This record gives sequence, C-alpha cells and structure tokens, in this order.
Amino acid sequence: PYVNTKDILEKASKEGYAVPALNINNLEFLHAIIDAGIEENAPIIIETSEGAIKYAGNGDIRRGAQLFVSMVRAFANTVPVPVALHLDHGKHFNIIMEAIKAGYSSVMIDASEYPFEKNLEETKKIVEIAHSVGVSVEAELGRLVGIEDNVVVAEHEAVLVDPNEAKEFVENTGVDFLAPAIGTSHGAFKFKGEAKLDFDRLKKVKELTGIPLVLHGASSVPEDIVKLAESYGANFKGAKGVPSDILKKAVKFGINKVNTDTDLRMAYVAGLREFLTNNPGEFDPRKYFKTAKEYVKEVIKARMRLLGCSNKA
Ligand code: G3H
Ligand code: 13P
Ligand code: NA
Ligand code: ZN
Repeated sequence: PYVNTKDILEKASKEGYAVPALNINNLEFLHAIIDAGIEENAPIIIETSEGAIKYAGNGDIRRGAQLFVSMVRAFANTVPVPVALHLDHGKHFNIIMEAIKAGYSSVMIDASEYPFEKNLEETKKIVEIAHSVGVSVEAELGRLVGIEDNVVVAEHEAVLVDPNEAKEFVENTGVDFLAPAIGTSHGAFKFKGEAKLDFDRLKKVKELTGIPLVLHGASSVPEDIVKLAESYGANFKGAKGVPSDILKKAVKFGINKVNTDTDLRMAYVAGLREFLTNNPGEFDPRKYFKTAKEYVKEVIKARMRLLGCSNKA
C-alpha cells in the first residue's frame, strides 16, 4: 500500500531501526527497490530530487511529479509492503507545491543554506501547508560537509547541527523529521582521511527532539562495487563512503532514515558496464538493464538488513 512516510518513520524511531530512503530517476531503479522491499519484507521509502522530477518530466516539473506519483502508486497499490514517496531536498516553493499537489507522501524543505531564523520561517510555512493535506515534512539543520581531522573544532561548530537550535527548531516548526548535519556529505568522495561522524551531537539532537532523524550523504560506496565497475573501465579514484559499522552506530544513536543515492548509481553502472562488455551484440534495453537492476537490488537488500528494517513491513 501507498502510505505516509510518517507512519514508516515513527515506527522505526519507536523500535530503534532505520529505513533506507532510495533515490530514483527512472523506472529501472524503482523495479529494483520494489523487488528488494518485497524480498526483505521491509518498508520502502522512495525519494526523488528536484533534478529527478525535472528529468522525468523532460523539463516540466508538474509532469515529472505526476509521473513519479503514478509510477510509485501503481506498484504501491499492488504490493504487500508499505511504500512512501518523498521529495528530497526541496529548495523551490513551486516544486514543493507541485510534489504535494501530485500526491507525494512527504516533502523535504531544505533551507539549510540560510541563517537559522530564515530556515525556521521557511520550514514552518511548508509544514503548515503540507500538514493541512496530510503530507509529512523533513527539514535540515547545519550544512553537509565532511569532518576532516585537520579542521579545528570552531569550524565544525559553524557547519554541524547545534542541538539546542534543533530543539527550538522542531518545537517552533512542527516538522516531522529532522536531518541534522553531523559530518556526512553527498556523492562518492566523502572523506579524504578516516570516516567519522559527530555522534555526541547526534545523541543530543535525538534526546532534545525525540523525532525521527535523517542521515543524508549516507552511501557506503562499497569497495567491491567500485572495483567491479573499475574492472569494466570506470574510474572512481578516491571514492569513499560511510562504512557499515559507522552507519549502524548512527542508527543506534537515533537515525531512522538513511538517504542513499550514490550506492545505487554505482551498483547500476557496474552492472551496466559488465553486461555491455560481455554482450556486445545486445541492444534490447530490457536485457541490458538486467544485471544493473540485479546489482542495485542486492545493494538495497544488504542495506535493509544492516539498518534493521528487514521483516518490519
Ligand atoms: O541529494 C542529492 C541526491 O543524491 C540527488 O542528487 O540532484 O543529482 O538528483 P541529484
Ligand atoms: P549519497 O550521495 O551518500 O547517496 O546521499 C544521498 C542523499 O543524501 C540524498 O538526499
Ligand atoms: Na530527503
Ligand atoms: Zn541529501
């Protein structure tokens, strides 16, 4: 069934596990996610960025949002596990409104680049609109940058979440989920040195807010996938993600939604390169996307097990 993201995440927060939120741009990733969720008997959160909506609509946002809702609902209505569709990093009022009107289960208002007061005001405005039509809301505090060993504490303070601000923010906005910046960053190159997150900050944010928390930039960039893609011609030199044990610790300290895009893209391109290299005569996309979809599905299943949401549907 198609559900509100809040239903999935409040259960996760109560029971102490996390659900991956999986970014899609097209049909094939959706297939892989649905199959993984069914096989793991896990709740499913699908998310699309503003860029994904523009891409799907071939430049038209309304069309893109409607297309994603239709695609996801068609599957959600006919599978036994709960499925939610979330707008990731909504930065434009009009795109957030189109997502809500099209029928997204939840939206993110990402005003984290603005000063605290403006972030709070923008978030509050979206919460009022979204809640009036039963759509839940995620917001972000702090900025997504990796913690590097050679950066002094004062500089961390400037970009990472302030737990007291988080409390004030949640109380004043009524936001449903919060993404606190604790040292992760987007993409395939997250850490130059050792991977590390600010768990003390995370613990305090959870204690002071009590709501489901979101980890952005949470891909692990698995070494076997990177190596496989590189063996078929890719170049991902320096790629590094959030190791599994660190993710597990983040879940223990209060993370319930684990945003994952890069790992899926990596698995997909590894499978696509492998298939095309080994089958130079193939030109049917239903066939040449097959290995790619299989690898994406396996990455998701592993993540569901790691985060503890398998058999939580
Ligand atoms: O937060 C970023 C997500 O990975 C989506 O990125 O803007 O390339 O679709 P995108
Ligand atoms: P990754 O780039 O680590 O997959 O992060 C995705 C993300 O945070 C989407 O919002
Ligand atoms: Na998000
Ligand atoms: Zn993100």
